[in-house]
Amino acid sequence: MQILKFFPDTPQIDNIIAKGVRHLNEGELLAIPTETVYGLAGDATNGTAIARIFAVKLRPKFNPLIAHVSSIEMACEYGEFDEISLELARHFWPGPLTLVVDCRQDSKIHELVSAGLDTIAIRCPGGMARQLIKTFGKPLAAPSANRSGKVSATSASHVTSEFEGENILVLDGGPCSVGIESTIAKVSDSKITLLRSGSITLKQLADFTGLPVEMAAHESAIQAPGMMTSHYAPRSNVLINCTQATDDAAVLTFGLQQITGNVVAQNIRNLSPAGDLLEAASNLYKLMRELDDLGKDTICVAPVPMEGLGIAINDRLTRASAPRSEV
Ligand code: TXA
Ligand code: MG
Repeated sequence: MQILKFFPDTPQIDNIIAKGVRHLNEGELLAIPTETVYGLAGDATNGTAIARIFAVKLRPKFNPLIAHVSSIEMACEYGEFDEISLELARHFWPGPLTLVVDCRQDSKIHELVSAGLDTIAIRCPGGMARQLIKTFGKPLAAPSANRSGKVSATSASHVTSEFEGENILVLDGGPCSVGIESTIAKVSDSKITLLRSGSITLKQLADFTGLPVEMAAHESAIQAPGMMTSHYAPRSNVLINCTQATDDAAVLTFGLQQITGNVVAQNIRNLSPAGDLLEAASNLYKLMRELDDLGKDTICVAPVPMEGLGIAINDRLTRASAPRSEV
């Protein structure tokens, strides 16, 4: 594992990108920051690199990966974009929106990326990730940089603690700004299905397109880790919507909410003392990891409002609290 720290928008970025591209050309993996979470990235056209991603993550091979592109033009080389998906890409890219579209017949993306499905999930991230992909000239397959089913990584140190001993070049661009994975949407028959909630909300998609948007049923045909009941799971058990803590628990609160019970201050974290959902999302995985490291049996989480980004936060918390047998 090698770590290269960089500051966005400084001249050093060109050297960092050149080194990253060399690594990708050799079929090696990079951990890269995106606005959402860190991704474990490899050349999406290189089957060996993709197989390595699945192996390092311990990810079941039926769970497809997102192909990350640097432009709509690049996206259209690999996916069949209907007019609405194209409008969504124009409006929300670069940014935290993944669109599931049909694979193009002549797509050079390796079939392992889409796990044999005839659709492909595509997203254009912003910032350094986008510059890197543009210079590389090909899409990067990049799942979140955590072991399968575990808490996502929002800083380089999370990545290194997940993948100790693995041959990965970590590009450390500091903490991710959004902190929660991208919204995943699929357009079909003049409606939009939300496959994963994220910082771009159902309401934003409905308002922008004027189309009905519905949440996918969890156990629908597409098997996706983000759709499995148990996911984003720390080692401790997670109890959500708590107003009272169990004995010797760690506690995660939000805003001014107090959880009653016998808990010492050093075992309590607050997602956002000001009650700001944006701040809460960006702190979620970091604080879950901190509390998990305390080694308590249980993490008790206070209620988080079910509005705006709170919907995605509650989605991740619900999965973190689900029975673990499926992962
Ligand atoms: O924010 C993000 O999306 C991050 C950053 C690194 O871009 N990536 C991410 O990847 O969260 P991952 O692999 O952890 O989650 C991707 C989700 C999975 O639930 C996967 O099953 C789903 O996307 N997915 C991928 N291809 C799909 C497809 N063709 N149809 C439906 N779901 C798909
Ligand atoms: Mg993930």
